[in-house]
Amino acid sequence: MKFSRLSELTDLAAVAPSQNISPAHRLWIEQLRQIDAEAIGDNDDGSDVIFGLSQTPKSLPPHYFYDDRGSHLFEEICDLPEYYPTRTEASILRDCAGEIAQITGDCEIVELGSGSSTKTRILLDARMAQGLPLRYLPIDVSGGMLEASAKQLLADYPTLSIYGLVGTYEQALAQLPPPQLSERMICFLGSSLGNLNPAECDIFFSEITNALHPTEYFLLGIDLHKPTEILEPAYNDAQGVTAAFNLNCLQHLNWRFNGNFDLNKFAHVSFYNLEQRQIEMHLRCLESCTVTLKSLNLTVEFQEGETMMTEISRKFDLQEMSDYLWQSHGLATVRIWTDPNQWFGLMLCQLQPAIS
Ligand code: AVI
Repeated sequence: MKFSRLSELTDLAAVAPSQNISPAHRLWIEQLRQIDAEAIGDNDDGSDVIFGLSQTPKSLPPHYFYDDRGSHLFEEICDLPEYYPTRTEASILRDCAGEIAQITGDCEIVELGSGSSTKTRILLDARMAQGLPLRYLPIDVSGGMLEASAKQLLADYPTLSIYGLVGTYEQALAQLPPPQLSERMICFLGSSLGNLNPAECDIFFSEITNALHPTEYFLLGIDLHKPTEILEPAYNDAQGVTAAFNLNCLQHLNWRFNGNFDLNKFAHVSFYNLEQRQIEMHLRCLESCTVTLKSLNLTVEFQEGETMMTEISRKFDLQEMSDYLWQSHGLATVRIWTDPNQWFGLMLCQLQPAIS
């Protein structure tokens, strides 16, 4: 494995986790990102921007939302009155965390896109209440965010040990350390699955099943199809936070690639595409302009009224998802939980042994 430890963690992480974990040695963080980026050259070079802006219609990869400001704006979105997914998922988790702990037993929690690990606390509390061992493997591209939340968790849960992986889902799933407990549960919460198109979903689920052993668990949170009147305000809030989040990706590109996008010449647009069952976020050009991203050697013309897509957020059906996970990926649904409005769903799945 090509691991290097984050240097600033010397105070907390000194040795590899052991069966007998002393308080000072409960945190281990591996930096996967830089090493792989150098070794194999990931899309940090902006080739995905060149590709997206050369298409008709133009598009931008959604990961450019998440610079520091974008990550903070996303946290703000999660608290907006119109943005129901975060609080709805949290309320379902509060109701079913005890049952999840009972079903999964001695099991370590792997979380993709752990962020501030807020929802993880609900799972940890339930495990602690049942006297189960606590082991957590957060995965996030932001090393700073992962480290800060890991340290806070260690302070709040004295029996917890953490093995964090800083990198993309793909990198981390391919390089998970050997399990220390008898089972493992990979969690993918927040309906981030909705930001992947069907082909990307297929690849993602293959990576999940490759990382799991038969009988291990996968916990998936998905946003469900619902009336347009509820969906559209969630992506076009009255305070304009989602608009700022959408426009911020241009600011991020300016900073990253020495560009000159004028944010006043673009406006946030979002709508529910009923046929595709997806929210679409776009940026509409308000005034024809020429944009240059100097470090990419790229000059792009925008016509007034032209739109470029920045994100899809797909909305799902629980039965269809359950059938698909079983038929295409051998993941059997163990239990499904939802809220009284059936706006959001949480699925606990188990990998079945392959039949040869
Ligand atoms: C991260 N993801 C699940 C959010 C969503 O709802 O698709 C991103 C988002 N975009 C606008 N608002 C929130």
